Amino acid sequence: MAEADDQNLRTPILGRSTPAPNTLVIFGAAGDLTRRKLLPAVYNLDVDGLLPESFAVVGFTRRDWDDATFRAGAREAIGKYSRRKLDEAKWPTFEQGLFHSNGAFDDPGAYVELKRKLEEIDQIRGIPGNRVYYLSIPPSAIATCVEQLQRVGLVESLGPDRPFTRIIVEKPIGHDLESAKKINDDVARVFDEKQVFRIDHYLGKETVQSILVLRFANSIFEPLWNQKYIDHVQITVSEEEGVGTRAGYYEEAGALRDMVQNHILQLLCLMAMEPPFSMAADVVRDQKMNVLNCLRPIPPDEVDKHVIRAQYGAGKHRGTEVPGYRREDRVKPDSTTETYVAIKAWIDNWRWAGVPFYLRTGKALPKRASEIAIQFKPVPSILFNAEPSGALEPNWLVLRIQPDEGLSLQIATKAPGPRVKISPVQMDFQYGEAFGDESPEAYERLLLDVMAGDATLFMRRDAVEASWAWVTGILDAWGKSGQRWLPEYPAGSAGPVEADRMIQSDGRRWREL
Ligand code: BG6
Repeated sequence: MAEADDQNLRTPILGRSTPAPNTLVIFGAAGDLTRRKLLPAVYNLDVDGLLPESFAVVGFTRRDWDDATFRAGAREAIGKYSRRKLDEAKWPTFEQGLFHSNGAFDDPGAYVELKRKLEEIDQIRGIPGNRVYYLSIPPSAIATCVEQLQRVGLVESLGPDRPFTRIIVEKPIGHDLESAKKINDDVARVFDEKQVFRIDHYLGKETVQSILVLRFANSIFEPLWNQKYIDHVQITVSEEEGVGTRAGYYEEAGALRDMVQNHILQLLCLMAMEPPFSMAADVVRDQKMNVLNCLRPIPPDEVDKHVIRAQYGAGKHRGTEVPGYRREDRVKPDSTTETYVAIKAWIDNWRWAGVPFYLRTGKALPKRASEIAIQFKPVPSILFNAEPSGALEPNWLVLRIQPDEGLSLQIATKAPGPRVKISPVQMDFQYGEAFGDESPEAYERLLLDVMAGDATLFMRRDAVEASWAWVTGILDAWGKSGQRWLPEYPAGSAGPVEADRMIQSDGRRWREL
């Protein structure tokens, strides 16, 4: 099976064919991700007729389940979380492709049994040994898992006419640069980089994919997309929920690791990259990598000035009292884990010199909203903008990633009437209105891409490490600061005043959430 990257680099990805028959093996299949995202994604791909004719899923867990138990659990999860209703007529055929293999990650015997089961499934379902391994497991289990797969002969090397073996690695890929490198090294001992798919589910979101289309399929934006016309950019990922049941993980992560290192820096790359000469995976990823290479490291003594971290305190969420972060279950009462972070970043290249990128993300904010907002420079201070006390509202282009996916452009117009009164108006486009159909979930697109061997939407090793290098600089400065408390913002409010002050000191303000 030829790998995608062996294709001519100018081959467009549009209109590709159904992937070759394969088995998706999910390690950690008893977890939430499998129930909420992976199984529903597979189900919807099946409904859309996008899966190969011969396909199977094997859930690997330490539970004492058989295939029937796994199928019943999958049915329940799909019934609950799938974007489409479970179709009773189709279910019996679908569930025939679901299997369970039981064992612990560190039990060599479990991998022998997995191999036996996979070979049996190949026979039953007519699959020529192609496998996709999904690691939905703790980072500490990755090394053992990949070694064991290799030991029992479940990893094929790359080459024409060989079955394919691909591996999907979920976040968190490490907690700093060093640990990320270790995970990457562990995986690289067994898999070639072309077989490795590091997932960032933001890249599978329809609106994130359409950033490049907006930029490079329209002639009107790209000429303005630079420091000559853009004043600054705000990238926001705001979440309404607090940490909820994930405090155990979050306490060790915090907003910088959880959201900035991956999702937000990926959005930044798509927003700021140069046009790739084709959509081939490495051509696109090279351009994204160039952005990360130009991201100015924040000197340790300037971290406090350019990076604001805070924690939510007690407040209200949709009328319900929310405890402060330190009082959440499984959070240390003296925790200094940030639930909010705002950063002023710079990309030191020709296109972006002098344009600040303000990044912010947080939990327990007033609403769920992810967007990239671009403020254009003001028109000269003559004619309609001559009055210093009544400066015109700037032009804004806002890419709404979720919810209410769409795009809006704020322009100045003359309000009707005998006097010249200028008002900003919004030109608004909504995906839902324009296309009607509900968009596929990110995991649908991403799983399909792995089966097709298309790594465009996945993180290459160098990008993961470059992101970590930048973020680790901030983490190190925080570590050395010895700070014992963080500023608080009331749950349900728009964030800490410190973040407002940071942007206001540049004569700018955050867009309202
Ligand atoms: C995950 C983070 O990667 O992304 C979560 O670990 C966060 O903390 C989630 O809530 C947000 O994803 P989405 O798709 O809901 O915006």
